[in-house]
Amino acid sequence: MGIVYHESSKVFHLYNDTISYLMMVLKNGHLGQLYFGKRIRDREDFSYFLETCKRPMTSYIYEDDRTFSLEHIRQEYPVFGTTDYRQPAMEVIQENGSRISDFQYQSHRLEKGKPKLPGLPATYTESGQEAETLTVTLKDELTGVELELLYTIFTKGGILTRSARFCHKGVKPIRLGRAMSLCLDLPDRDYVWQQLSGCWARECHIHCRNLEPGIQAIGSMRGNSSHEHNPFLVLRRPHADERQGEVIGLSLIYSGNFRIQAEVDAHDTLRILAGIDPETFEWKLEAGESFQTPEAVLVYTDQGMNHMSQTFHKLYQKRLARGYWRDKARPILNNNWEATYFDFTEERLIEIASKAKECGVELFVLDDGWFGARSSDHAGLGDWKANRERLPGGITGLAERIEELGMKFGLWFEPEMVNKDSDLYRQHPDWILATPGRKVSYGRYQYVLDFSRKEVVDAIYEQMAKILKNAKVSYIKWDMNRSITECFSKAWPADRQGEIYHRYILGVYDLYERLTWEFPHVLFESCSSGGGRFDPGMLYYAPQGWLSDDSDAVERLKIQYGASMCYPISSMGAHVSVTPNHQVFRNTPLHTRANVACFGTFGYELDLNKLTAKETEEVKEQIAFMKKYRQLLQFGTFYRLESPFEGNEAAWMVVSDDQKTALVGWYRILNRVNGNYTRLRLEGLNPAYCYRNNRSGLNNYGDELMYAGLITTDETAGQGADGEIACSDFDSRIYILEAEEV
Ligand code: DGJ
Repeated sequence: MGIVYHESSKVFHLYNDTISYLMMVLKNGHLGQLYFGKRIRDREDFSYFLETCKRPMTSYIYEDDRTFSLEHIRQEYPVFGTTDYRQPAMEVIQENGSRISDFQYQSHRLEKGKPKLPGLPATYTESGQEAETLTVTLKDELTGVELELLYTIFTKGGILTRSARFCHKGVKPIRLGRAMSLCLDLPDRDYVWQQLSGCWARECHIHCRNLEPGIQAIGSMRGNSSHEHNPFLVLRRPHADERQGEVIGLSLIYSGNFRIQAEVDAHDTLRILAGIDPETFEWKLEAGESFQTPEAVLVYTDQGMNHMSQTFHKLYQKRLARGYWRDKARPILNNNWEATYFDFTEERLIEIASKAKECGVELFVLDDGWFGARSSDHAGLGDWKANRERLPGGITGLAERIEELGMKFGLWFEPEMVNKDSDLYRQHPDWILATPGRKVSYGRYQYVLDFSRKEVVDAIYEQMAKILKNAKVSYIKWDMNRSITECFSKAWPADRQGEIYHRYILGVYDLYERLTWEFPHVLFESCSSGGGRFDPGMLYYAPQGWLSDDSDAVERLKIQYGASMCYPISSMGAHVSVTPNHQVFRNTPLHTRANVACFGTFGYELDLNKLTAKETEEVKEQIAFMKKYRQLLQFGTFYRLESPFEGNEAAWMVVSDDQKTALVGWYRILNRVNGNYTRLRLEGLNPAYCYRNNRSGLNNYGDELMYAGLITTDETAGQGADGEIACSDFDSRIYILEAEEV
């Protein structure tokens, strides 16, 4: 692995065993992009990759060179308004109103490992051997602004991270009109664009399209990364699939407003931009100040989408998530939300928790409704003090009682919000985001606290820390149930109002950082009405997130399948809930609800007292199974096998690092009469290992299972056998494959 600068050709080559990334200093001093893809042998000069030609209707930089126009040159971090008519990566707005800038190469430096990004979540290294970082400094002479472009290449896998930092070394203040994290100019548009989109209760659905001339984009202007679009993009070659072919994955480590876009120009070259949404962003830089963009992660592979996902999974599990819980199998929890909603007493909670304990649950989570005047969603947010009418012993007393039952205790917060009916709001009505003279809109009867203000973040920190210090709280579910409107902070001057969305997210990160630092053993689960902020930024602080409020097993197949494109199983909160399901009113078998949820951080979202004796026994078995296999389920190598977006069946599997154990999840949405023979070609097994199949009792070598397939045919062909219903709609199975000693 290495990062090489070839002085004579002014070419940078960043490479490891998998990838090469090539760029060069152009003759106008800007940085040109030459290549990103499969590793190629290093050599002194790659500048021939820089293609230029004389094109009509073009604006040129040099009078004597009709080939040099930025419009037709692939660049690393393009500027606005000087011969390039595509969308730029940055805009520097100067005192005289000009937006023209000219950032020229000054110097570069190399360092082992990876520097931290102040105040922002980012991937990290634990030793200098794991990665190397190149920082290229460019300067705009007229304004004195320096631009640092950061590139980190990891030693293993096709991973390259990027970000940009503006350091104002001039005199007069400037404003950044946009500051993207990454620009990637590619020589052709022969890719399928694949995004994860949806809405509340339907997050992370896979949508694909071909790239056509013009701009196609996903993003958020809601203040949170959003249910609507995940900050993640796949570009795959048309013939690439899960098992083979060239794929580029792009993930933005950010939880606020973002944009990821592709611009195909008139000559079919492709510009990808990713970063903070430019529409809702502006940042003033006084002399001496600097601005750091969030980090973008690029993954390249020529081994298909499963391999791309596995690369993200390992990176995000091991080098984005942090702390005590990073590598640990997650506790099996019972959350009371769908069991009681706001209607509970301490005794009712103890009843639910006692049954959960009897079934083997390890963590009892008290959701919304325990604090202040909260008996519905009209009141209480902001007052993080137990409601003594409901909880006579307070949180300390309840946590004590749960611990006495032999379980850990977890608690719900929504730190960023306030109801008007709360002591906090009555004391500090000016602490919400609201535009003077304008109506302030609400969502779910609540208002957004101005987290761009340190005193607001401090006040919430104090309240939360007090509870965590005084009560045995082992887990926090951190919710965020509305998006931002009328974004304006009373604490900041007019010329800094464009900063508030980003400053808000920095405030959220700051609170997370302080709490996770102060209470390192607490397991944090992020949440935003389900998956409204299920993004890599959150993963840095909270190693798991509540992926969706939709707990229906069939809906979850698509949501979890889509999310697995980027996010590891250890990050996806997935629970068994009641039937009829509370979101879609569908009845699904208990085993299928568990068979879906076990490919996630498993738990129950119901009152187990309400199950029949037979169902209770089934739950005990599910929990025993989960305890035995959760390390593998959550941290093994995950493969998607059959897509729920494409047919009536879905399947996925995990394989242990030593390839001796594999679990296959197989799901059929609707039953079929006289159904076909079916089989699944498995992945990731050792061809020479002989695996025992727990369902059939057969022993099969890995090669049989991978090349010929695991037979999943239902022997009744979908019909009841001997008068007994053997299968029905929404059936599923888990196959356990254990290799015999070899
Ligand atoms: C939205 C979350 O996604 C739910 O799980 C639950 O915590 C509610 N908020 C509580 O208000």
